[in-house]
This record gives sequence, structure tokens and C-alpha cells, in this order.
Amino acid sequence: MSTIERADIQGFVLSGYAAMHEARYVFLEVADPAGARRWLGELASRVTTAIAPERVRCINVALTCRGLAALGLGEAQLSTFAPPFQEGMTTPYRRRVLGDVGPSAPDTWAWGGPSASGGTVPEDRVPEDRVPEDRVPEDRVHVLLLLFARDLDAMEPLLEAELSLATADGAFRHVHTLRPEPLPGRLSVGKFGVEHFGFADGMSQPVIRGSGQDGKLAGEEARRHVAATGEFVLGYPNGYGELTPSPWLPGPDGTKIDVGRNGTYLVVRQLKQDVHGFRELVRAHAGAAGSDPDAEARLAAKLVGRWYSGAPLARTPHRDDADLATDNAFGYAEVDPYGERCPIGAHIRRANPRDSIAPERARALELTNLHRILRRGRVYGPELPDDATDDDLVERGLIFMCISANLERQFEFVQQTWCNNPKFSNLYEEQDPLLGTPPPEGGLFTVQGSPIATRVRGLTNFVTVRGGAYFFLPGVRALLTLTTAT
Ligand code: HEM
Repeated sequence: MSTIERADIQGFVLSGYAAMHEARYVFLEVADPAGARRWLGELASRVTTAIAPERVRCINVALTCRGLAALGLGEAQLSTFAPPFQEGMTTPYRRRVLGDVGPSAPDTWAWGGPSASGGTVPEDRVPEDRVPEDRVPEDRVHVLLLLFARDLDAMEPLLEAELSLATADGAFRHVHTLRPEPLPGRLSVGKFGVEHFGFADGMSQPVIRGSGQDGKLAGEEARRHVAATGEFVLGYPNGYGELTPSPWLPGPDGTKIDVGRNGTYLVVRQLKQDVHGFRELVRAHAGAAGSDPDAEARLAAKLVGRWYSGAPLARTPHRDDADLATDNAFGYAEVDPYGERCPIGAHIRRANPRDSIAPERARALELTNLHRILRRGRVYGPELPDDATDDDLVERGLIFMCISANLERQFEFVQQTWCNNPKFSNLYEEQDPLLGTPPPEGGLFTVQGSPIATRVRGLTNFVTVRGGAYFFLPGVRALLTLTTAT
């Protein structure tokens, strides 16, 4: 087994920095390429690596393809990076792959959408009044500075210092900052964060082989969740036992300098949640079900695949059970092949069907594990009080981030082939109940049951995309190479 070069890997790959309660995601635009390269070169020595947990602050950095071009990389060099990264998130093809249509169309995004000057040609132009005036288009999103600090007292000086270094002498222009809610926020009984619809989140993550964290998992859980190093870090064997193509720069005498090693790709998507809409749907349908006091929580759990506490429906189909809140060692093939416990189309069963998508369990698990993502999201915006009737005044949602070495086979596959696919696993005309873009007359969701299945109607856009981009999160050595090679 290969040893992971932790000193060269950015810390965010191996950790979501849960002890860092404050985070700021700072978008920068290159103004002076030479100054920007100098700053990035100096930043390399301050970047938090995966060697040791930081106690007060962490700094990581990622770049878009346009950012690399703005630093001076030429077409030939950029062409060695992964195609989705090169093309960006807003091309007509990627809109289809990611389901970014209607209210989620990139033209409406606050950041990362197509530039006014054209760039990509949107297929479904949106009315002018839905386009935010102060939006930051993709051609201005070059560098993402990921800042984490233990608390606000540590964050404020860190943000000020890093911003002034980046913008000193006109190297960068600061274009946007995302500010997630401070952790710990709302915590579930299992001590995981709670997202805005009210569910515990983050219990199910793949674990990188050789990261040290794999040793902490045993038995069934290890078999299900330990993934090849190369699924998440370039330069190591992936789930096929092969090396995922790595970007490179030409070196002396026809050699290639591998700038992918110890790096990876980072997906960032700002996902606005319609919490009121979600609650309304659940209330309306549960109300129609009669006097059952648990009907609301049961329907909500059916949509997600876990109860509010986090307990998986596959384990406890009839009632929430706090003792199972962090359970992640379950499958579907044996206990629930037809979705009578956890519906086939529930969010977690689409996003990770585990052992259920091939006739043979072990093979199914192997295949599914070729499509895992490491989630690194944090919620933004205040909690919506229970009795609130409108949540359009303040935006709230999830700053969804995920890491994968192969954007197409991992993140995009999950989003397109599983979550957004109307025909997923013999379903018909429905999408992920949380993420889908339903038709104007409302979306559908099937709750399998015996003797008959029921269909929930009238699902609306519970999640709308407000911004997004693909980034490259380089290894530390590669960061230095990229800043000196141009
Ligand atoms: C606002 C949007 C979203 C919300 C509210 C949400 C909510 C949740 C919740 C409550 C869980 C269960 C907790 C856990 O298993 O860790 C979960 C799991 C998961 N979600 Fe999401 N999610 C969102 C977006 C996404 C997106 C965009 C993707 C990927 C395309 C995704 C992929 C996953 C995966 C892979 C799991 C783990 C499933 C498993 O291994 O069983 N989610 N999500």
C-alpha cells in the first residue's frame, strides 16, 4: 500500500476542520499575474497540510481553470487538466449533466455564472429581473482562498491579514466572500451538524485508504466505506487500481512535471434551500394521512432516507431511534431490496445506492464505491423558526463542497446518473426529492410499500443553485511549481 504524502496534501482533503468554527471562502480575481504568482508562492508556506491538525487557523487554496490561465498557463498546459475543470460548470452540456436549468440556471447565479460578454451560450435564457445585479461572473472567479479559524477572534485578523496580502500592490481583486454559519450550529443527538431542513448531516463519508482514519473503522463499516486513495488524491491508485490522469507541465528535455500529484478537484455549489416549501409539502401530505402524529416526520424521513436524528430507515423503518443516529454500516440489498423501508428514490439511496444496484451484493458495493464523493459542506444563513411562514427574506442553504479525483466519474455521475435521473432504478418521471428541478405542475416521489406504493405529488424546487465552480486543489509542491512555471 502506498504511503500518503501528507506533508504535500492540503489539509482540507483529509479534514473538514470541525474544530474550526468559523470559515470564510474568499474569491479572488487575478489583476497582476506576476504579483499573483508571487503571492501564491509565498502562500504555499502558510498552507495547512494534512500533517497535523491546526489548533487556531487553517489556510487552503484552490484555483479555477480561468485562474490558471490568468496566472499565465497556456492552452497546451491547461489541456492536461480534467475536461470538466477546463470547460467549467456553465456550458450547455454541463447544465444538462448537473440539471442546472430553470431557477437553477447559471445565468441567475450570484457567482460563477456566464460572463455578460458571452463565453457560453445559455440555452434557457432567464428573464432579466432574475439576474442579480452585482453577480460575479465565472471569468472573475480565479482563486478560492479557504480560511478557517477556531473562533471569530481568530478569524477576523486572519481574514484581514490574508486579504491585505492578496490585494497588496494590486495582485488580486477581492470579488466575493461566502460566510457559512459558525459551527457547531445545531447539533444532532449523534453530535453531527444539522442542515436547514432539520436533518443530521455528514455521517456517511468514504474514508481514504492510508489516511489513518481507515484504521478507525472495523468490520462491515470498513468494508463499505474505505475507498482507494486515488479516488480522492491524484497520484495514487484509484478504485480500478490505476492512476487517474494527472495534469502536467513540460519539463526540461521532454520530461513531464506532474502537477497533479497530491492534488485533487474541489466542487463548490451554493445551494439555496426553501425550508418553508419543504415543511409545507410534508405538512400537507401528512395532514392528508389523518391523525397519525408521526406522519410528518415519517414522510420527511422517506424523502431523505434517514430520520431527523440521522437514524437510517434501512435499519429503523417505523420510528426514529436516537441509538442508531450515526449508524452507517447498513446496506439495502438484504433488508430492503424493494424500497419498502428506505424508498428507492430517497436522497441518500440515490446519492449512494450502496449494495443495491447489481444482482450480487459484493459486486454492487464495489461498483457503487467507484462513485463516492467526500463532502465538505457547511450551512449558511440563519435557521428558519418553526412557525415562520416565509423564508424568502433571508437566504439560507448549504455551501456544498465535495472532493473527488475524477469529477466525471464521481461528482457528476452521482448528480446526473443517480440523483437527477428520472429513470433511476426503474423509477419513472421523478428525481432526487431534495435536489431535483420538478416541472411547473410539481414533482413526484414514490414511497414503495406493501401491498401498494403511494406517490407524493406537488414537490417543488426545494434546492436552487445560486453559484458554483470547479476548482483544482493542488499539492503544496505543485502550487509552487504552478507559480514559477509560467
Ligand atoms: C441542500 C442540498 C442538500 C441537502 C439538504 C442534503 C442533505 C443530506 C442529508 C441530510 C444526508 C444524510 C446524512 C449523511 O448520510 O451523511 C445526505 C447524505 C448524502 N448526500 Fe446530500 N444533501 C444535499 C445535497 C447533496 C448533493 C448536491 C449531493 C451530490 C451530488 C449530495 C450527496 C450526498 C451523499 C453522497 C450522501 C451520503 C449518502 C450515503 O452514503 O448514504 N447531497 N445529504
